[in-house]
Amino acid sequence: PPRIGVLTSGGDAPGMNPAVRAVVRSALQAGAEVFAIREGWQGAVEGGDDIVALDWDDVSGIMHRGGTVIGTARCQEFRDRGGRRRAALNLVRHGIDRLAVIGGDGSLTGADLLRQEWPELLAELVAAGEIDEDMARAHRNLMIAGLVGSIDNDMVGTDMTIGTDSALHRIIDAVDAISSTAASHQRTFIVEVMGRECGYLALTGAVAGGAAYTFIPEAPPADGWQQHMCELIQRGREAGRRDSVIIVAEGARDRSGRPITSADVRQALKDNLGQDARITILGHVQRGGTPSAYDRWMSSLLGVSATEDLLAADSTSVPSVLGIHRNAVIRTPLIEAVQQTRAIASMVAAHDFEGAVAARGVGFSR
Ligand code: F6P
Repeated sequence: PPRIGVLTSGGDAPGMNPAVRAVVRSALQAGAEVFAIREGWQGAVEGGDDIVALDWDDVSGIMHRGGTVIGTARCQEFRDRGGRRRAALNLVRHGIDRLAVIGGDGSLTGADLLRQEWPELLAELVAAGEIDEDMARAHRNLMIAGLVGSIDNDMVGTDMTIGTDSALHRIIDAVDAISSTAASHQRTFIVEVMGRECGYLALTGAVAGGAAYTFIPEAPPADGWQQHMCELIQRGREAGRRDSVIIVAEGARDRSGRPITSADVRQALKDNLGQDARITILGHVQRGGTPSAYDRWMSSLLGVSATEDLLAADSTSVPSVLGIHRNAVIRTPLIEAVQQTRAIASMVAAHDFEGAVAARGVGFSR
């Protein structure tokens, strides 16, 4: 029977477990064998006990658990060809040539590199006597299905990445909790959220949390934002609003590319309004905890689709990123998703903000 490997890589995200469960059970159902590659690409590079066969019951009771039960890592060795050569050897020795990769931009870029190099790496392993020719022939192509696992929602090819919705729930819970203490003291709170260079969590969290102001990398405020923000906060107070929440994306910048930090926002409130605002940095609380219903549903759907694609794949198949668009599964060629994601990051870095938002296509549209 065909052998599928499943791995989670990069920052963990709620919903990775439902995705793993779906891949495993749909593969077993279809008569395939399925292996967990533990600790992400690190497990592929290390081999040994990090590559283990999974059974139906091995993924019982994980649907509601945050993080990833098969472990993840940000693997440095896999960035080097030498690391990918070791990964290829370990995978082929286990007879694995189909991979469901659940990870962020970096992890999926690595997956595509391994796929491109695969025939060459196998030839090298044969020449070095590390695998025999029959083995290389039997696994001459590496087939990959990518699922985007990241709370940042920063990848092209899906409306929502796995974990974003759960992280938003964490953010909203925190903003609601903060609002009550803020209202009691008539205070302004600055809430800093994750997302790297992507403002999705901050923007969506601000809308859903009813925040007064937000800072995101894709739409830096005009010069003089300090006065503008303070005027709005002041107007709210005059209208009877007792609490004000400002959400700052960790990657927020001004128009000249300088970071706007929570401390900068606090200082502006002090200078202009004499307010003594409080800062709450939500940190990894956003990434942990139980996956939302949406993340469970979406990840299960994507996991089953990944298995179907992997079992139907042959040497002519283009590896895809599987995502969700308008509540249906969509596929984008892996290389395209990676390249477009990079291009958007470059546009943001070059201050082409309109271009970046337009190129994002899905996820940010009105
Ligand atoms: O990519 C997910 C993410 O949580 C980002 O939002 C954040 O910047 C980063 O990972 C934190 O990384 P680490 O867990 O390695 O500190």
